Amino acid sequence: MIISITNFNIGGQMKMTQANIIFANDSWVINNKQITQFVKDSAGSFSTLIDEDGLVIVIKEIEEKKLTYDQVRMTAGAIARELSKRKIEKATIDGQLLSDSFSTLDSEAGAVLTAFVEGWNLGNYQFLTYKSKETAFATELQVTNVEDLDLIEAGEIRAEAMAFSRDLMNEIPNVLNPETFPTMLVDKFAETDVDVKVFGKDELEKMEMNGILTVGRGSKYAPSLVELHYCGDETKPLVSLVGKGVTFDTGGISLKGSRDLSDMRMDMGGAAAVAGAMQLLAKAKAKVNVVALIQIVENMPDNLSLLPGEVIRYKNGHTVQVGNTDAEGRLILADGLIRAGELNAEYIVNIATLTGAIANALGSKLAGVFGDEQLSLELKAIGDVNGDFVWPMPLVDAYESYLKSDYADFSNISSKAEAGAITAALFLRRFVPENSKWLHVDMAGVMESQEAGYYAKSATGFGARLLADFTEHVSK
Ligand code: BES
Ligand code: ZN
Ligand code: ZN
Repeated sequence: MIISITNFNIGGQMKMTQANIIFANDSWVINNKQITQFVKDSAGSFSTLIDEDGLVIVIKEIEEKKLTYDQVRMTAGAIARELSKRKIEKATIDGQLLSDSFSTLDSEAGAVLTAFVEGWNLGNYQFLTYKSKETAFATELQVTNVEDLDLIEAGEIRAEAMAFSRDLMNEIPNVLNPETFPTMLVDKFAETDVDVKVFGKDELEKMEMNGILTVGRGSKYAPSLVELHYCGDETKPLVSLVGKGVTFDTGGISLKGSRDLSDMRMDMGGAAAVAGAMQLLAKAKAKVNVVALIQIVENMPDNLSLLPGEVIRYKNGHTVQVGNTDAEGRLILADGLIRAGELNAEYIVNIATLTGAIANALGSKLAGVFGDEQLSLELKAIGDVNGDFVWPMPLVDAYESYLKSDYADFSNISSKAEAGAITAALFLRRFVPENSKWLHVDMAGVMESQEAGYYAKSATGFGARLLADFTEHVSK
């Protein structure tokens, strides 16, 4: 029972190491009108109260038409962060009550519970490697009244995969660079069903991966291509996930402006997304056949650097004039797309922090998806459920001419100051192998978040869930 606010008496015996999570829509739980109103009026998705047993978290009722799985994740994440900040050791929730409270949503039995656990674990995410005075603390979630423990494990696996992507993106560029990143991936997947192949500079030369080699020329770290293979069912179509892995983007000789460029360490967000997706698929023992291709470089100005005006000759015969060395992502992804073709991938999804223009167009909550129109819609539907939101964008043929070059087949930048995300996508389309179905996800706008729900003020880990769920979707 909850003690009414007016009669409230702080007892010396109260244990504040434990919290119970309940729901405002359970009239039998909250039968005090004053408290019901108090909960309704409080800001945010839940209220924190105290009764004789300790803390009580009351989850506010959500209007049926506004209720989404992501709201469940956001609520869980916010509660987890609040309780962890208060150093509460354990919180308990009734699994059956949770499902019942969001029953209009639970089309797939138990998906609400998975979403809650996922949001909870992500809400506890912190990147503390370089905080010398802080130690990690996470309130443990105990779910009672559940039969299918796989539902909880599914949430844990999803959160863990996304946290892996976040860790990679948050890591600092002197620690995560083109020479250490491949080793981190080798170590991470060592005891798993994922095979890791690392192609170093010499091999890249033999493979004519000239985009990666050219962009990586100015860095003290040799570039590489990492392939991660996971085959849970060889009869399934081969899906290739191609991720941009620029461990730091200074712009190169076309140097970026003088603002704080710290977030350009996250220019390997596409690589982090595909690595997270591989972890998710492997841990879930998904029946899919997937290869991730990660192009890893550091984009630096140097006396050896790529110069504007140079021409890159690609393995598929295309020659590209480099109009701007800061449009480096598309130059390395081109090699990844060519490689996906060599491996006969039926589906190719590339993902990259590619253009500032996509952030201008869609803001920080949605990524843009280009390519096969039907598949784009399917990807949007997947993101609407799993929280990695995307919006379909057009490949406008009339803008193809903007990529004209005077002396090469085409340029890596547009001749016009408009539609920057679209022209980048049109550039990539020229490298898509003929027989594959292709999508391009531009996640530049969504790579970082503010503290809210299950997001911390850090990298988002966007894309791990999206790519994993897409891979399963086309493998049904
Ligand atoms: N990595 C950047 C894009 C980016 C910008 C990611 C902001 C995250 C936040 C990319 O390599 C880049 O510099 N793109 C240029 C392209 C331009 C030179 C055609 C851009 O968007 O300005
Ligand atoms: Zn750039
Ligand atoms: Zn970049």
